[in-house]
Amino acid sequence: MRFSCVPLVQFSLAGFAAANFFHRNLAYHSPFATHPQLAHDTAKINENGIQRRQDIDSAAFRDGHYTTFYGGDFSNTPFIWGGGVNFTHAVASGDPFDTSVLLWTRAVPLSSSSGALPNVDVPVCVAYQVGTNPDLTGRIISYGERFTSYDVDWTVKVEATGLKGGYKILLSSRMVQSTLRAHNTTADIFIHLGDYIYESLGNGAHIGRQTLGRELATIKDYRQRLNQYRTDQSLVYAHMHAPWITVWDDHEVSDNPWKAGTADSNDTAVGCAFSASGACFTDRKLAAVRAYHEWMPIRQVDPQDKLRIWRNFQIGKLLDLTMLDTRQYDRDITDMYYNTEYVNTIAAFANRSLMGAAQEKWFFDTVSESKNRGAVWRVVGQQIVFTQLNELGAFDLDAWDGYRANRKRVLDHISQNRISNTVILSGDSHANWVSDLAYPNDTTTYDPISGKGAIGVEFAGTAVTSGSSFGSGITPTAANVISNQLIDLNPDLQWSEGSYRGFFTLSIDPNHLNATYYGMNNITFANLDGFATAQFVVKAGQNKLSRPVAGGSVLAGVLQAQVNVNSTDDNH
Ligand SMILES: *[C@@H]1O[C@H](CO)[C@@H](O)[C@H](O)[C@H]1NC(C)=O
Ligand SMILES: *[C@@H]1O[C@H](CO)[C@@H](O)[C@H](O)[C@H]1NC(C)=O
Ligand SMILES: *[C@@H]1O[C@H](CO)[C@@H](O)[C@H](O)[C@H]1NC(C)=O
Ligand SMILES: *[C@@H]1O[C@H](CO)[C@@H](O)[C@H](O)[C@H]1NC(C)=O
Ligand SMILES: *[C@@H]1O[C@H](CO)[C@@H](O)[C@H](O)[C@H]1NC(C)=O
Ligand SMILES: *[C@@H]1O[C@H](CO)[C@@H](O)[C@H](O)[C@H]1NC(C)=O
Ligand SMILES: *[C@@H]1O[C@H](CO)[C@@H](O)[C@H](O)[C@H]1NC(C)=O
Ligand SMILES: *[C@@H]1O[C@H](CO)[C@@H](O)[C@H](O)[C@H]1NC(C)=O
Repeated sequence: MRFSCVPLVQFSLAGFAAANFFHRNLAYHSPFATHPQLAHDTAKINENGIQRRQDIDSAAFRDGHYTTFYGGDFSNTPFIWGGGVNFTHAVASGDPFDTSVLLWTRAVPLSSSSGALPNVDVPVCVAYQVGTNPDLTGRIISYGERFTSYDVDWTVKVEATGLKGGYKILLSSRMVQSTLRAHNTTADIFIHLGDYIYESLGNGAHIGRQTLGRELATIKDYRQRLNQYRTDQSLVYAHMHAPWITVWDDHEVSDNPWKAGTADSNDTAVGCAFSASGACFTDRKLAAVRAYHEWMPIRQVDPQDKLRIWRNFQIGKLLDLTMLDTRQYDRDITDMYYNTEYVNTIAAFANRSLMGAAQEKWFFDTVSESKNRGAVWRVVGQQIVFTQLNELGAFDLDAWDGYRANRKRVLDHISQNRISNTVILSGDSHANWVSDLAYPNDTTTYDPISGKGAIGVEFAGTAVTSGSSFGSGITPTAANVISNQLIDLNPDLQWSEGSYRGFFTLSIDPNHLNATYYGMNNITFANLDGFATAQFVVKAGQNKLSRPVAGGSVLAGVLQAQVNVNSTDDNH
C-alpha cells in the first residue's frame, strides 16, 4: 500500500501558554481514564493546580505498594510554565485511521539562560497544528493546546482528526535536525511486534547509558529505559517519518510473563518475598503499562478495558491488520524456566489460552468480518512464533507450541470458515522463520514441497540488534548448521536464518503480498550496510508461499528446498 502525498500533515509544536484541560492530553489516560488506580484525576489537577508529585528514587525502591502517580496536596494556585521548553525526543505518530492519527511529543521545561533549574511543579502547555503543507501556510486542518506535566513524564499525546484518506505524515518540531535525513525509512507504516525495550539489568554502561543494577520495577525505571531507547537517532527518525503500530511482548514488562506472574518475580498472591526485585508482579506490570502508554503513540482502544491493546486497522479494501496481545492480556501459565517440565505436561490442554476468551472471540470475529467486508488480505501482527517448531526434540513452550489447542482453534477458524489470504507476523524469537501455515504434523493434506494444502503463511522476524537465539554473535556458517537440522525436522518451515540482525518489509497490493528480509552486516554502529537476505512472494488466493520458495535462492539462511527435494509451483 502506498499513501499519496496530499494533503501533507505537519505537527508543529511550540511552547505556548493558555488555560486548558489536562484530560485532553491522552497521556493522562495512561492506561485507563476512568479507573482511579490507573489514571490521573485531571479535573482535580486542573482545579487545584500542581504540587510536586511523588518521585521515588529508583535506586532506593523498596517493596510495597508504591505510589505511581501524584500525591500532592494541590494547595498551590494554578500557573503555567513560562520558560523555555525542550522537545527532547522530537515527535512521533501512530495508529493511523483513515481520517485521524495519534501524534506524540515530549516537552520538558528548560533551565533559564542564567542556569537556574526549571520549576518542575508547574505544567507546560504546548500548541499543535496540522496543516495541508509542511510550512503550515496552507489550510489548518486540526489544532489545539495540551498541558503536560511531571505526572506523565512530560509526554503529550493527541489525536489529529479531520484528515483526508491517503494522508502522508511529515512531522516536525523545533528540535528536528537535518542530519536525520541520512536514514532510510521508505515504509508507509512501521509495525513493531514487541520487545521495544528490555527490562533487564542492561549492559549499556560502557556506552554511557544509565543502568540500575537490577531489573526495572518502578514507573520511573520504565520511563527512563523508554527514554534511553528513544535517544537512538534512527529510531527517532523512523518515528518521525511514518506512523507506528505497536504491541508489547514480554520485555516491555518482564521476562516470560503470564497473567499472574513472570520468570523473574512471582504472583502478587504468592507474596513479594519471591521477587528478586522486591516488586510484586502486579505493581511492576502496572508501572510498565503506564509508562508504555505515555511513551508510545498508541491508542487506548477501550476505556472500559484497562489492559487492552488488541485492535484492528482496516486499510481500505486491501487489508485488515489485526494486532493481538498474546502476552500480557490474559495468558495462562507459561514456561518460566523452573516449571518447564510441568508446562510440557499441560501444553496441549484445551483450556489453555494465550489471549483469553474475550480476545480470542474478538480475533475470530475480526478475521471473519474482514473476509465478509471483502478485504483482500488479513495480516495478523502478534508476538510469538506460531508454527510448530521442533527444536531438536524440544519446543518453545513460551510460544504457541506451549498452547497447542489454542493454535488448533486458530487454524480451525481460518480453515473451516475458508478465510483466505491470512498472513501471520511474529516477533520475539531473535531469529528469522518463514513457514506455510498448516496443522502440525499434517502429512496428509499439506505437502511441504508444493505447499498444497497450506492455509496461510507465517513471517517471523528477528531482532534489530538484540542477540541471536542461536547464540549471540553466531556466524552465518555456524547458524546454517543449526538451520539445516531445523529445516530437516520441520517440514512446514520453509526458511530458517539465525545469524543476521535486521528487519523485514511487506509490500502489498491486491495480487501479491511480498516479504523482503534484510540483514545488517554490522550493528555496532549506525549504518545502512545491509542486504536483502531473502524475498518471498505470496499470491492472492494461494494461501502458501509461492514456489519456488524465495525464488529458489537466498543470500543467508537455509531453504527447505535446499535441504529436501526440488519444489515447483503448482498454483494451489
Ligand atoms: C534537549 O534534550 C536533548 C535530548 O535529551 C538534549 O540532548 C539537549 O541537550 C537538550 N537541550 C537543552 C538546551 O537542554
Ligand atoms: C531504501 O530502502 C528501500 C526499501 O528497502 C530501497 O528500495 C531503497 O533503495 C533504499 N534507498 C537507499 C537510499 O538506500
Ligand atoms: C517463583 O516461584 C517458584 C515456585 O515457588 C520458585 O521455584 C521460583 O524460584 C520463584 N521465582 C523467583 C524469581 O523468585
Ligand atoms: C484444564 O484441563 C485439564 C485437562 O482436561 C484439567 O485437568 C484441568 O483441571 C483443567 N483446568 C481448569 C482450570 O479447568
Ligand atoms: C508432532 O510430532 C512431534 C514428533 O513426534 C511431537 O513431539 C509433537 O508433539 C507433535 N505435535 C502435535 C501438535 O501433536
Ligand atoms: C511482488 O513480487 C512479484 C514477483 O516479483 C511482483 O510481480 C509484484 O509486482 C510484487 N508486488 C508487490 C506489491 O511488491
Ligand atoms: C563492525 O564495525 C566495528 C566499528 O567499525 C568494527 O570494529 C568491527 O570489526 C566491525 N565488525 C565486523 C564483523 O565487521
Ligand atoms: C533438483 O533437481 C535437479 C534436476 O533434476 C537435480 O540435479 C538436483 O540434484 C535436485 N536437487 C535436490 C536438492 O534434490
